Amino acid sequence: VNHLLGIKYINEKDIQLIFETADQFKEVINRSIKKVPSLRDITIANIFFENSTRTRLSFELAEKRLSADVINFSAGQSSVKKGETLIDTVNNILSMKVDMVVMRHPNPGAGIFLSKHVKAAIVNAGDGAHEHPTQALLDSFSIRERFGDVAGKKVVIVGDILHSRVALSNIFALKLQGAQVKVCGPKTLMPKHIGSLGVEVETDLRKALNWCDVANMLRIQNERLDISYFPTTREYTQQFGVNKALLDSLDKEIVIMHPGPINRGVEITSDVADSKQSIILNQVENGVAIRMAVIYLLASKIK
Ligand code: CP
Repeated sequence: VNHLLGIKYINEKDIQLIFETADQFKEVINRSIKKVPSLRDITIANIFFENSTRTRLSFELAEKRLSADVINFSAGQSSVKKGETLIDTVNNILSMKVDMVVMRHPNPGAGIFLSKHVKAAIVNAGDGAHEHPTQALLDSFSIRERFGDVAGKKVVIVGDILHSRVALSNIFALKLQGAQVKVCGPKTLMPKHIGSLGVEVETDLRKALNWCDVANMLRIQNERLDISYFPTTREYTQQFGVNKALLDSLDKEIVIMHPGPINRGVEITSDVADSKQSIILNQVENGVAIRMAVIYLLASKIK
């Protein structure tokens, strides 16, 4: 594998190799060794055409912890605004002897397109409503850390499945590892082809939560909605929001995940997000080790 374009394009063995590599980096970080010299001769460009907090900072930190040289590019402050194309932009960056491109882009398939037109390793940091592979890897890694294994675990993904790259990448990753997956949300926010992905749809949130070991809560992707898919935010929260009273009334104690950013009080209340059942900040912590592993393994193909 020379790129990481989506979980769809890798296999279970690739995931295990990434996890084992991430285990080693996490152990190194936990020993307060914050920098290793592995990628001293590698230069990486993080190019972001969409906003990001976690993914962008996490990639940059991962790259710096591996001692790579890093340049950061935000489309909004660039010559993209003057009409420069994606390929021209990236080829100009690559002519400065850049080896790897980490890209977030609003168009589904943008990373795949780029990988066919430029000579660099491409890492997809989220492409529209398509895939967000490193998010799915850090999510599964966090489940594995909590339960010891992903296989056999019951995971429900709750929310705007239709517009969520996190949902699609998680479905691929979880199924590859033998987890059972359900999705829960309004019918209007469910992709028509969801059945072909091998997941069950549950529209009753309480039933879904009583079934699962882990609930991965997603936000409504308002930036990708062009019409009103669900009557109101208040109605969404009433039917699909998780609050402490609901959590406490379940048959068992489940683990709560969220990729961020959270819309507190919409899909999840603060007392759930900040509860001991939440591993949201563990996910963020694990994101650095996972991204170190992905970059390290891809860089080993360049050298
Ligand atoms: N989870 C995630 O992708 O967050 P950001 O959009 O802040 O990077």
